Amino acid sequence: MTNSERKPDLIAPSILSANFATLGAEVDNVLAAGADIVHFDVMDNHYVPNLTIGPLVCEALRKHGVSADIDVHLMVRPVDMIVPEFAKAGATYITFHPEASEHVDRTLQLIRNEGCKSGLVFNPATPLSWLDFVLDKVDMILIMSVNPGFGGQSFIPAALEKLRQARKLIDTSGLDIRLEIDGGVKVDNIATIKSAGADTFVSGSGIFGNAKATDPHRYDSIISSMRAALATA
Ligand code: DX5
Ligand code: ZN
Repeated sequence: MTNSERKPDLIAPSILSANFATLGAEVDNVLAAGADIVHFDVMDNHYVPNLTIGPLVCEALRKHGVSADIDVHLMVRPVDMIVPEFAKAGATYITFHPEASEHVDRTLQLIRNEGCKSGLVFNPATPLSWLDFVLDKVDMILIMSVNPGFGGQSFIPAALEKLRQARKLIDTSGLDIRLEIDGGVKVDNIATIKSAGADTFVSGSGIFGNAKATDPHRYDSIISSMRAALATA
């Protein structure tokens, strides 16, 4: 598949870096600025050393009127218990870390059976070989370019080679799978990341990081800059 046949780029703001006290407005504003999907980081203070948000908040965003896809990134162990709850709460994608599930194939099936799109997440040191026998059960491959747990970390360059390998896997298979990158994505590296094969770009601090004002248009210029950088790759 050539670059021109690729799926459209999706910009996925990670609400981990948004202002939780005004989350509904934050999500409205970043989507109005041109972002495509909402990246929703779920941390359990067990699989990763941080504690964030769960299905109630996902449901609250839906009730608030958010109709964009919600991309739930589970950093929790165990995984299976929480999957139906997120499906009920309005998740579109549910991705999880293979090390956190006792039965990866079963979890992937569970996510699809619940009516969501499924995905596997690869930590910086996790090999892509986890995909060997389950590629047909995956709608999204998420490559972590930081170790999971916190926003605002630096991009780990080895993720670029992993993206290239994952891109080859996807294109060779002919399957309909998105390739997402998460961690340290900014305006100045997003084009390089796209060239390595990604089509879905999570950015937390890169989008929400500097905006403190109450101007509802405060995310317009950062999203436009990302879109312009993507257009060059
Ligand atoms: C990290 C999370 C990321 C995080 C990215 O565990 O999965 O989604 O919010 O934040 P930035 O873009 O600031 O690296
Ligand atoms: Zn994430």
